[in-house]
Amino acid sequence: MTESFNVKLVEEMKYYTPDPEYKRNSWLGDYQKAYDEFLTDPDAFWSKMAQQLDWIRPWDAVMDWNYPYARWFTNAKLNITANCLDRHVNNHRRNKVALIWRGEGGAERIYTYQKLLSHVMRFANALKKIGVKKGDRVCIYMPLVPEQVIAMLACARIGATHSVVFGGFAAAALNLRIQDAEAKVVITADVAVRRGKAIQLKAIVDEALINAPTVEHVIVLRRKEPCLDLHPTRELDFYAVMDGVPDECPPEVMDAEDPLFILYTSGSTGKPKGVVHTCGGYMVGTYYTSKYVFDIKDNDIFWCTADPGWVTGHSYIIYGPLAVGATVFITELTPDYPDAGSWWHLIQEQNITILYTAPTAIRTFMKVGESWPNKYNLNSLRIIGSVGEPLNPEAFEWYYHVIGKDRCPIVDTWWQTETGMLLITTMLGEKMRPGFAGKPIPGVTVDVVDKNGKPVPANSMGFLVIKSPWPAMLRTLYKDDERYRKYWYTIDNCYTAGDLAVKGKDGYIMILGRADDIIIVAGHNIGTAEVESALVSHKAVAEAAVIGKPDPVKGNSIKAFVILRVGHQPSDNLRQDLVHHVRTTLGPIAVPHEIEFVDKLPKTRSGKIMRRVLKAKEMGIDPGDISTLEE
Ligand code: WT7
Repeated sequence: MTESFNVKLVEEMKYYTPDPEYKRNSWLGDYQKAYDEFLTDPDAFWSKMAQQLDWIRPWDAVMDWNYPYARWFTNAKLNITANCLDRHVNNHRRNKVALIWRGEGGAERIYTYQKLLSHVMRFANALKKIGVKKGDRVCIYMPLVPEQVIAMLACARIGATHSVVFGGFAAAALNLRIQDAEAKVVITADVAVRRGKAIQLKAIVDEALINAPTVEHVIVLRRKEPCLDLHPTRELDFYAVMDGVPDECPPEVMDAEDPLFILYTSGSTGKPKGVVHTCGGYMVGTYYTSKYVFDIKDNDIFWCTADPGWVTGHSYIIYGPLAVGATVFITELTPDYPDAGSWWHLIQEQNITILYTAPTAIRTFMKVGESWPNKYNLNSLRIIGSVGEPLNPEAFEWYYHVIGKDRCPIVDTWWQTETGMLLITTMLGEKMRPGFAGKPIPGVTVDVVDKNGKPVPANSMGFLVIKSPWPAMLRTLYKDDERYRKYWYTIDNCYTAGDLAVKGKDGYIMILGRADDIIIVAGHNIGTAEVESALVSHKAVAEAAVIGKPDPVKGNSIKAFVILRVGHQPSDNLRQDLVHHVRTTLGPIAVPHEIEFVDKLPKTRSGKIMRRVLKAKEMGIDPGDISTLEE
């Protein structure tokens, strides 16, 4: 399995060393020391983290492992919102800004911790008033506005299980998720605002509710004038429903293992998987990583550019940063609206100190050119992060030089909806290696193995596995425990993430992409991610997607779809140049047999290229479930 990946890159051993001040001033201190501390006594390590939070009743055991089921902080009682809100309201952070929201046309809304808590309690009481009880499922389908955060926290306050569906999913996808979770209430808004246009969310909800018998009420945030008409009994206004409710809502006492939320993620089969996360372990895992990986301090302004509708938003807009007591920035503005400087403008305007975004965004910024960020003052930034896909070396370099000004460490964080918290990265102060996410964080053990679970030699490709339970791990898949067990039985005694990876001689891990994104050409395994990365390393290429096409002789041939950078034109010469470039970077077996220049690639809303859609189109077949497709 070792032939095809970028051997040159793996052997290159190129590093960037951060300013030692970062390590000196970090919450973590020394990575290796913390990791050794964990290895010596894992329970003590996690206890130390958990003890920094407020519990209603302490745990009897840190972890019970009954393969493949883990229970963390057994019998402990807590409420995550008491940690994200009340804890700060009762200390010096009472009037600290918790949340800053920016909308279009200069709109801004600011919530202090005590103001956010008071909204959450009142909305929680409103949910109670309409009959929502602990354990009920509430579907949240909203734009990126503060009310989305309030709705999620209000559910957690009363022990209702939220199932957030990203506000860009179509009606059929929303219906599927509402039905599967048997949601009692749906919380939505009249519109989402995107690039100056109103997207009619409520109309999509109406369509999704045609066959959704479990739904008793729909709560609608009405943003537009004149106000949308509501059904007199079934539909309620987001603010009117809070009329007359008490101001106080004590946090529901939750068992550490009670569910906190369900979040649907796409699987290889097309039927989405309802990933179930629980209260105690998830709280500790997201708190720990927010504090020690992003190194959030009281004067930071933390901007995770994800939508709360994705796990990244759950863990690193809401639960983790708020548990730490951070100031969190969110915006409904897209990176290209009102112009391509929109996000850099926001960083300058808000003095963002920690930016956490995705490679797809970074590559889009590369495409429009560095003149845009160069117009703004980005000096407030001190740490920049990435998540969602491999951060290819070219994107790393651009991010590091153009955005981080050779000064900000990059935290490329590997994790999944299922893992709940980030697990692999290069922690503050450690030297960074372009193309490599880094090492497991303290508390986590990972390896790269063959299909029998045997570690592969350094610098060869294998399956990424997690070797021991971690607190924020998924507990099951909603109503599909059988499918949950597959994560732990594909390779015995470890969690198979489904990604291919390489571990360097230095222990750094390079993520190559999903194992199912592999093309076998003439018996060679070729990772779509590697060919794409090779293409993107050419100066003319902004983005690339690679698929396998059936070939009678080779089994598969490689077809590449390429978006060019501004200033480059498609031509046969360029095509040959790209072929030559891949040949010299990856070798002849990885050379695309066909290159098509395109303006756009089909992507999921979280920014992953949907190669399956390209492939289906290419072969003239049905792409199957495309509910996650962006447009
Ligand atoms: C898959 C999980 C975790 C939040 C967003 C995605 C890929 C994620 C990285 C990274 C390389 C990455 C993996 C993983 N991925 N982060 N830093 N480097 N690949 O969550 O939709 O559940 O997707 O995203 O392939 O398995 P998700």
